[in-house]
Amino acid sequence: MTRVGGIVAQEAVEAERLPQLMDLFSSAWWMADRAPDDITQMLQESDLVLAFIHEPTNQLAGFTRVLTDYTYLAMVLDVVVHNNFRGSGLGAALMDAVVQHPRLTDVRSIELICQPDLVPFYRRWGFTDGVGGSRLMRRTTDPRLVRTERRDHQ
Ligand SMILES: CC(C)(COP(=O)(O)OP(=O)(O)OC[C@H]1O[C@@H](n2cnc3c(N)ncnc32)[C@H](O)[C@@H]1OP(=O)(O)O)[C@@H](O)C(=O)NCCC(=O)NCCS
Repeated sequence: MTRVGGIVAQEAVEAERLPQLMDLFSSAWWMADRAPDDITQMLQESDLVLAFIHEPTNQLAGFTRVLTDYTYLAMVLDVVVHNNFRGSGLGAALMDAVVQHPRLTDVRSIELICQPDLVPFYRRWGFTDGVGGSRLMRRTTDPRLVRTERRDHQ
């Protein structure tokens, strides 16, 4: 349960909320410079989008999205809570909504990428960083995603 009232979950982000989504993304280093057109395409092409709206202020308070085949694998991406609402249980509620989503309950593996300080957070939902010999490999045009120094989260 969140410790802030008036939060409503929805499985879409309306076009008119794009500025709110960009504001939300601006607080996370790997999403801070995303362009509006790219975000629009990202929303259209993601399999699941989850948004928390704070109804009293009509503010986008939290967001995450999932890429999945609904069978073997689901990737949870871009988990973010607005600075105004952090520490109120919204991040936990986003993760509850993902792992309890009726279309994901039978998926064999749910995976995500995070920085070490968030490992204890995700452990609460049964995520483990004990993945045998598996290594994350990445082919990217974004140099931030292959830097060797640690970042805050993801
Ligand atoms: C990570 C994030 C989503 C957490 O959201 P939040 O709404 O502040 O988290 P919650 O209030 O739901 O916290 C739930 C619990 O997890 C704990 N927690 C939160 N952040 C944590 C962290 N970095 N490490 C360990 N535990 C953490 C809280 O203490 C809380 O514990 P409690 O239930 O005992 O009080 C939020 O800080 C955020 O948006 N960060 C920036 C973006 C980011 O890094 N996202 C993660 C991508 S992998």
